[in-house]
Amino acid sequence: MVLSHAASDTDVSHSTFASPYVRTSLPRFKMPGNSIPNEAAYQIMHDELMLDGNSRLNLASFLTTWMEPECDKLIMASINKNYVEKHAYPITTELQNRCVNMIANLFNAPLGETETAVGVGTVGSSEAIMLAGLAFKRKWQNKRKAEGKPFNKPNIVTGANVHEVCWEKFARWLMRTLCVAAILGSTLNGEFEDVKLLNDLLVLKNKETGWDTPIHVDAASGGFIAPFLYPELEWDFRLPLVKSINVSGHKYGLVYEGIGWVVWRTKEDLPEELIFHVNYLGVDQPTFTLNFSKVFHQSLFIDIHLSINVGSSQVIAQYYQLIRLGHEVSRVIEM
Ligand SMILES: Cc1ncc(COP(=O)(O)O)c(C=O)c1O
Repeated sequence: MVLSHAASDTDVSHSTFASPYVRTSLPRFKMPGNSIPNEAAYQIMHDELMLDGNSRLNLASFLTTWMEPECDKLIMASINKNYVEKHAYPITTELQNRCVNMIANLFNAPLGETETAVGVGTVGSSEAIMLAGLAFKRKWQNKRKAEGKPFNKPNIVTGANVHEVCWEKFARWLMRTLCVAAILGSTLNGEFEDVKLLNDLLVLKNKETGWDTPIHVDAASGGFIAPFLYPELEWDFRLPLVKSINVSGHKYGLVYEGIGWVVWRTKEDLPEELIFHVNYLGVDQPTFTLNFSKVFHQSLFIDIHLSINVGSSQVIAQYYQLIRLGHEVSRVIEM
C-alpha cells in the first residue's frame, strides 16, 4: 500500500515554499515575535538576495569579486575571530605586521633589512586617508605652536581629480590640514599624477618660503600596480617629501571588500600623541584608527576593529595574496 504524506506546516525541509513562513511579507521594521526554522530563514533570505546584482559581473567599483578557493577557506576559518583580542589571536596580528612591512618595502620606505615598518590595516583607502591626514595635521599644529604661530587655519592642496567622497569628508570632518595630496590612479580614468614633478617643485617652494609642506600619495588604485608594471617610476618613499601612502587592499591588492592600508615613511611621521592607550580586557593596547585599533611602536604592530570580525579574515587574505603571488603578480596584471 502506498502511503501518501502530507507535510505539516512546520515540516520545512519538504515544503519551505508552501510553509507559513513565506505566506506573509518579511518583517522590515520590527523583529518578529516568533522564531522560524533555520532552513526557512536561509531560503527566504537566499531568494531575496537573488534580486541583488551579480557581484562577479560588477566591474564598476574595481573591487575584488573573486578569490581562490583556498583563500576562501582561510577566510571562513577566521571569520569568527575578534581581532581586538590580540592575545587570543597573536598570529593574525603577526600577519598584519608582515603585510605592513611588505607594503612599506614595496613602496621603498627607508627601512633596514629587518626593520619594522609603520602602518595599519584600515577599512579601505577612505579610512587610511583620514589617518594619514590626521597625522599631517597634528605634526603641522605642533610645529606652528612651537614657532608661536597661529595653527587654526591649515590648508590642504589637491587636484580637482581627487576622490570626492573621502577627501572632502576628510576636509569637512577633520578641518583642513597642511599637505599636498597626489593621486596615483585617478578614480575617473586611472591616470597617475606626476608625483616626482610635484615633489621637485615642492622642494623648491619649501626652500623659497621656509615651509615644510609634505606629500601624501593616494595610491588607492595605483599602489598595487605601479611597483610591478612601472618599477622605475618614482612616486613613493624614494621621493623625500612623500611621508605617507594609502592603498586599497580590496582593489588591486586582490582581497574582498573592506581592507585598505596606510603606511608612513618613518615612525617620526606618525605623531605619538595620536595614539590612544586603552585598557581592554586588562591589557594596555595603544590604538590608532577611526575604528578601534592598536599601534605598537618599535616592534610596532597595529590591528583593526573592535567588533568588525571580518577584519581578521581580510588581513589573512591580504597576506595570502602577498605570499601567493609575490612579485610575479606583475605577470597576472599584464595578462
Ligand atoms: C583615488 C581614490 N582614493 C580613494 C578611494 C577610496 O577608496 P576605498 O574604496 O578603498 O575607501 C578611491 C576609490 O575608488 C579612489 O579611487
